[in-house]
Amino acid sequence: MESVTFKNLSFAYHEFGHEPRTVLDNASLVVNQMEIVCIAGQSGQGKSTLLRILAGLAQPRSGQIFYSGIQSNLHTHTALNVALEHKVAFVFQNSALISNLRVFDNVALPIRYHQPHRTDESIREQVNGLLASMMVEEYSGHFPYALSAGVLRRVAIARALAMEPRILLMDEPTTGLDTKSRRSLLALIDNQRYLRHATIIMVTHDLPIAKDLDARVCFLHKGKLSDPMRHDEFLLAQEEHIRELVEEMDLRPT
Ligand SMILES: Nc1ncnc2c1ncn2[C@@H]1O[C@H](COP(=O)(O)OP(=O)(O)O)[C@@H](O)[C@H]1O
Ligand SMILES: [Mg+2]
Repeated sequence: MESVTFKNLSFAYHEFGHEPRTVLDNASLVVNQMEIVCIAGQSGQGKSTLLRILAGLAQPRSGQIFYSGIQSNLHTHTALNVALEHKVAFVFQNSALISNLRVFDNVALPIRYHQPHRTDESIREQVNGLLASMMVEEYSGHFPYALSAGVLRRVAIARALAMEPRILLMDEPTTGLDTKSRRSLLALIDNQRYLRHATIIMVTHDLPIAKDLDARVCFLHKGKLSDPMRHDEFLLAQEEHIRELVEEMDLRPT
């Protein structure tokens, strides 16, 4: 079943005094339910912009976006509508937790805000379950400043899961993590996918992730989004910009 489909998305930044900067030029992709697709590409190619568009945080100049087969009206394509109507959650690159709220209250915040009828007891149960599923329950009473980068990412994911999304968008979830926390985070993310039958679109320039998760990868370069490729396909890709990324990651056929 199709989970996220976009067709011919185009987007440009217009800055005063500059030529418009085209970031997406007719980008199209079909992502199936429970699939993980990675968006890779060099820095500045527009990966975050594409993810922000899918989250409703930016509006494309043209194109169509469907979530679970339902088209988003681009005139009302806002983060709130996308989150609530289409069940999409976004995990920001910097985790974006609220600094003066404890971990528990950060995760409870979207529930309290969007479901004001919920009792404290039922919220507590759900939040504790979310923290446990991301293996961060011991940090429930901590403030964000006291957490390591790996724990921050897990809490941010727990918060994103609070609204029971069908689609999870993540911007560079493993950047800045050491190998150990990177691997354990990936296992947790993959686990959530199975538990919740969620679809994941992940921006990353970390190609071994795609291998570990057996994900398909699309490469964004000069506004063009490639077809999705599996690990064995992108290792053999001829395009210079893909070869550079492959060589950077020192990823070889095994
Ligand atoms: N708000 C903005 N206004 C103008 N230009 C921007 C803005 N955000 C990003 N850009 C530019 O658009 C391009 C793509 O940015 P981004 O989507 O962040 O790329 P990536 O995530 O692949 O590094 C970059 O050249 C960046 O400088
Ligand atoms: Mg980015």
